[in-house]
Amino acid sequence: MKKQVVVYKRLSASLLERLQQRFDVTCFDGVNPDNRTAFETALRTAHGLIGASVRIDAATLAGAENLEIASTISVGYDTFDLDALKQHGIALTHTPGVLTETVADTVFALILATARRVVELAGFVRAGQWHRSIGLELFGIDVHHKTLGCIGMGRIGTAVARRARLGFEMPVIYHDLHPAPAVEEAYGATRLPLDQVLAEADFICVLLPLLPSTERSINAEAFDRMKPSAIFINGSRGRVVDQDALIAALASGKIRGAGLDVFEKEPLPADSPLLGMSNVVALPHIGSATAETREAMAAMAVDNLIAGLEGRKPAHLVDQTVWFQRHGPSDRD
Ligand code: 8YV
Repeated sequence: MKKQVVVYKRLSASLLERLQQRFDVTCFDGVNPDNRTAFETALRTAHGLIGASVRIDAATLAGAENLEIASTISVGYDTFDLDALKQHGIALTHTPGVLTETVADTVFALILATARRVVELAGFVRAGQWHRSIGLELFGIDVHHKTLGCIGMGRIGTAVARRARLGFEMPVIYHDLHPAPAVEEAYGATRLPLDQVLAEADFICVLLPLLPSTERSINAEAFDRMKPSAIFINGSRGRVVDQDALIAALASGKIRGAGLDVFEKEPLPADSPLLGMSNVVALPHIGSATAETREAMAAMAVDNLIAGLEGRKPAHLVDQTVWFQRHGPSDRD
């Protein structure tokens, strides 16, 4: 009998076919209140799960007795309750690396758009308000040669630092629990205590994973330390930031502006104060959302899932121990 797979994000025809050739596949185009019961019913007999952007917690997994592997089409895996997965012996895979450059492009788009007021001024032209050469009240600020501060210097931070240093000749400072000697050597980056990065950077980019230790770690105190000319960029997870504190900092002019791809609650509610601020550029979580990258992420996630269900160790396991618990040490590479 074929194993059963639940797909909860739309896949391209060719990737779906790869799964259908091997497994019995049930598809959901996202999970919402209307189809949640059907989704959870399908999970009860499923061996594999693939998708993104849906909270998978202990309640979702209750009764999913056959489930061996969950493959998320994302690098972040904060939508999963890792303890519940462990308890059920369900391996989790993700898609690191393949989206790095695309997310770094998005972060840079936010840097440029906020500094040069691209969205605000494009709206000004579209509204028929461009009657003469603009005055200094609409001028932006330079990006080149300003100081970039990265909070978190992992794969994406490194790609942002490269753009900043090589393309815009920006000094790069960063804060991370671990030193990043390769970034220091290649791009002259300097590792500093968090408070110093917050106080010295012109562009403060948050590129941290969402963990209990990072949740709301960018708080009112952090915004207090920033320069009034600072622009705050978040391309990681909304809940790493205390969003009310961010709104207060923007409203009181404590910082100059913000470029945000992620929010505490997504989709961002239409009545959020952030949407009434002309110095905020808000995007609908598009960090990795190019046709090429999303397809590459989905392909990697499909490869991970197929390997796992065929008993081969997937290339991108989040936590190897769960895999070895089920499959034994003989698979160790
Ligand atoms: C999207 C992301 O959330 O990979 C991540 O962690 O944040 C984004 O790429 C996700 O991939 C939606 O499919």
